[in-house]
Amino acid sequence: MFTSNRPRRNRKTAAIRALSQETYLQVNNFIFPVFLISGTRKREPIKSMPGIDRLSLDLLLKEIEYCKSLGISTFCIFPAIEDRLKDKFATESYNTKGLYLNAIKIIKKEFPDICIMTDVAMDPYSSDGHDGYVENGKILNDKTLEILAKMSLAQAEAGADILGPSDMMDGRIGYIREALDDQGLTDVSIMSYCAKYASAFYGPFRDALESAPKFGDKKTYQMNPANKREAIIEGTLDELEGADFLMVKPALSYLDIIHVMNENFNLPIAAYNVSGEYAMIKAASQNGWLDGKKAMHESLLSIKRAGAKIILTYFAKEYAEDIHNGIVY
Ligand code: PBG
Repeated sequence: MFTSNRPRRNRKTAAIRALSQETYLQVNNFIFPVFLISGTRKREPIKSMPGIDRLSLDLLLKEIEYCKSLGISTFCIFPAIEDRLKDKFATESYNTKGLYLNAIKIIKKEFPDICIMTDVAMDPYSSDGHDGYVENGKILNDKTLEILAKMSLAQAEAGADILGPSDMMDGRIGYIREALDDQGLTDVSIMSYCAKYASAFYGPFRDALESAPKFGDKKTYQMNPANKREAIIEGTLDELEGADFLMVKPALSYLDIIHVMNENFNLPIAAYNVSGEYAMIKAASQNGWLDGKKAMHESLLSIKRAGAKIILTYFAKEYAEDIHNGIVY
């Protein structure tokens, strides 16, 4: 006999493949990122993200209700702020009457049992388009922390369940945790964008929010795509500082980072399947160059297999709909 080792036996029928399948996706591990704009009855498609729209609050409420019926229970809300409201200090980010905080309040009231995740960073509100406070062309770390803390408190008070600091300033998790605890907001969670890389894959997202940096790039705060050990440094600090979840972002070019974070930390690991990763699959599938459904499923599976328990993905609704409709990929 040529060989008695035949791993193919475990692949011989669909039933046996199912028995030996190691990884399963679960809709309740998804976080669906959604984009909020001002006004009513407004739905603005994002050109570089087919299937994803910027929605005014009334339509976003309907969208959440529909997604909830599909089993999605966590939403990460990003606001598109009008240019005239942007300034150097991101003042609009803690305006309790502003678009974002008002929407969080109303969504929470309407759907008390869903989980609302926010974005904590200056870029959607900053006239400089950077995640931090800019002075003489430099991003000032500690000055940024004060603004992030104000923003965090305002979001928590509005009803956010999980804050998502996506800015990559040093010490921000501890600073925000302390600010929350001082105000008695001890139940509010923090999902740290812990290993967030300076990536080309955020392009469509910046189109969606018109939040691209006005000068330079984000390399002094977001991580160098060449580095893995640095992710462990960031994870160690965020864990010590009180993060409840550690996120890796982007996901698909960083599966090794997801793996290493899952091996090194006991906190739940999340991965952000970002806008550019979504756009690539959509574009190729619209061209008939690959099967979009299968590519979606395979890439989400690979993120989970790498070690992410939680996946933030623009595919959340589409995937949940497919499961609901009994589609097998
Ligand atoms: C900004 C932020 C970004 C994303 C989430 N929060 C963009 C950036 O860092 O420039 C990207 C998400 C995506 O591409 O889907 N604080």
